[in-house]
Amino acid sequence: MEKPTSPETRVAQYDFGMIGLGVMGRNLALNIADRGYSVVGFDKDQDKAQALEQESRQRNILSVRELRAFVGALKTPRAILLLVPAGPAVDAVIEELIPVLSAGDLLADCGNSHFSDTDRRTRRLEEAGLHFLGVGVSGGEAGARFGPSIMPGGDREAFERIAPMLQAISAKVNGEHCMGWLGPRSAGHYVKMVHNGIEYALMQLLAETYHLLKEAGGLDNDELHALFSRWNQGPLQSFLLEITAAIFARADDLSPGRLIDRIKASAKQKGTGMWTSQNALDLHIPVPAIDMAVAQRDLSALADERHIANTLHTLHLSGDPADKESLSAPLEQALEFAAIVTYAQGLSLLHHASQAYGYGLQLAEVARIWRGGCIIRAALLEDIRAVYANKPDLPSLLLAPAFAQKLIALQAGARSVLKLAIDRGIPVPAFMACLSYYDAYRRDWLPANLIQAQRDFFGAHTYERTDRTGVFHTNWGQ
Ligand code: 6PG
Repeated sequence: MEKPTSPETRVAQYDFGMIGLGVMGRNLALNIADRGYSVVGFDKDQDKAQALEQESRQRNILSVRELRAFVGALKTPRAILLLVPAGPAVDAVIEELIPVLSAGDLLADCGNSHFSDTDRRTRRLEEAGLHFLGVGVSGGEAGARFGPSIMPGGDREAFERIAPMLQAISAKVNGEHCMGWLGPRSAGHYVKMVHNGIEYALMQLLAETYHLLKEAGGLDNDELHALFSRWNQGPLQSFLLEITAAIFARADDLSPGRLIDRIKASAKQKGTGMWTSQNALDLHIPVPAIDMAVAQRDLSALADERHIANTLHTLHLSGDPADKESLSAPLEQALEFAAIVTYAQGLSLLHHASQAYGYGLQLAEVARIWRGGCIIRAALLEDIRAVYANKPDLPSLLLAPAFAQKLIALQAGARSVLKLAIDRGIPVPAFMACLSYYDAYRRDWLPANLIQAQRDFFGAHTYERTDRTGVFHTNWGQ
């Protein structure tokens, strides 16, 4: 039975509405209420609505399962946050809301929506006289509850209406909030998409590091825990490294040993990393570390095929365990090297996408927001922020002298680790993608003259010359 409309819902007294009370929506609602705002939550799913209701006793929270009661409970002009699964569910909610909202009301989609959907929805809602914001939110369950990193985009004036609340609920680093308007239309969701692409690549690099240490170094879970924890005290300090260290220490509740050894090694994905690669290809901006991370998740999922291949391609490349200490030092360098190159690729995509889509992104602001609350937060982002604060239009982090110096110092470690991986047959495609990108990017000359010659040979596609201007074609067959 539908819960009867309570007296509260007849009075428009709530500051914010939250549609979608799954893990992220419920925790964000609680976070908002903790900051002194009143929140009305809406979910058609009784269990989800009840889960929030149980938390509502001491707080200024109301949970309803009827849309009109929800809309009626909100102060006008209304401000409603959506946290429903990306895709058709967002459109369905929007279409249900349009007839019951009033001109000037504001919707903020806080899910991982594709940026092109956000652009389309912005136009749709504008036609209906409503404001729409695409807001990237990162930090998972704990972040939503106690301080996420927030990446809003859309109409600036509409943003200003909810900015104090977003500021209040966001993560803080050295007293600065990890939230800031990023640009018009889908700018916020675009930045969140690239955040996730970087997230995929960093996770893949850590997984490759684990593979090398486990297989070539023979490290057990305790040693892995100790080493990753130690690295997390240095320049590699980051959320993903911290949780990776913790994962190795976690006992299994269901059987003896560590949980990590009982988890099926086939990765899943919701698609945001793939979207980053797809869009980077559309814009002709290389992000190979992200591409490889997506490809490796896909390859990991082809478990049956890999099983057959394993019986066919029998190679004996294992060798004696590498000395643990002499493996860990270059690997730490390799990881720092690859992390820098990964951020550089993601930021380069943002730089070019900002031009292509007219976002006007400030990359110093992006790095500032990413320093806390989000999944890719890392000590490194402070230095990245400093670079872009000085040179906002720098096309690549690799063109910053401070980072050039860092990479020159680190690349030898990366090379030695990759040689070992190749000799042992351990796949390290994300590391290789980072090193090859670096080696290609830092060169004046690449063998693309041959590509041009080939194109002209078989397709008369023409080429340019180094010694004179114009476009040339050669009759190669003669
Ligand atoms: C975040 C995460 C989050 C992400 C999922 C997992 O910033 O909090 O990036 O938004 O979507 O945690 O994504 P996959 O299922 O694609 O790995």
